[in-house]
Amino acid sequence: MSEPILQAIDLTKTFTVGSGIFGRAKIENVAVNRVNFEIEKGETLGLVGESGCGKSTLALSILGLYKATSGRILFNGKDITNADERLLKPIRRQMQMIFQDPLASLDPRLTVEQIISEPLEIHGIGTRTERTNLAAEMLERVGLSSENLYLLPYIVTHRPRLFLEFLFRK
Ligand SMILES: Nc1ncnc2c1ncn2[C@@H]1O[C@H](COP(=O)(O)OP(=O)(O)O)[C@@H](O)[C@H]1O
Ligand SMILES: [Mg+2]
Repeated sequence: MSEPILQAIDLTKTFTVGSGIFGRAKIENVAVNRVNFEIEKGETLGLVGESGCGKSTLALSILGLYKATSGRILFNGKDITNADERLLKPIRRQMQMIFQDPLASLDPRLTVEQIISEPLEIHGIGTRTERTNLAAEMLERVGLSSENLYLLPYIVTHRPRLFLEFLFRK
């Protein structure tokens, strides 16, 4: 059997709420409690549960955006538990968060081209022109038009609202 791509071993994340000073109680909130799983190549793992059960905290801990309280995270067999940014940077090319909310994910001041090119630039992929070409290809690949490269996402996503505001102003 091949080695799992991602492995969580007794992964635990506790938040400490309250300062513990001036008699205020310090409360330990165990958001993720000893989670164990393995994901093999080609497998998809769905994590389902009620709001507040720890799904986001688990994902953020795996990505190293939260410091795990205890347990271990292995990526391709390598221990990346609470690894520093230098070690995580190359891994972030292979493991990343895709946010659900487009308005929170897309910077309204950046063009579509800048948004798609930015991670490529951070990871030193291609020249400027190559990155622009890759951004254009990516739009086409997901069924959008490369003509949209220089649009601002804010204008695209807010068009219905702007239209309504225009109607009501009349
Ligand atoms: N930054 C934080 N500080 C303190 N408590 C947090 C923080 N983030 C999440 N929590 C708590 O951890 C628990 C799990 O939250 P979360 O991972 O956001 O759940 P889910 O994504 O499943 O809705 C909740 O009790 C939440 O209040
Ligand atoms: Mg969540």
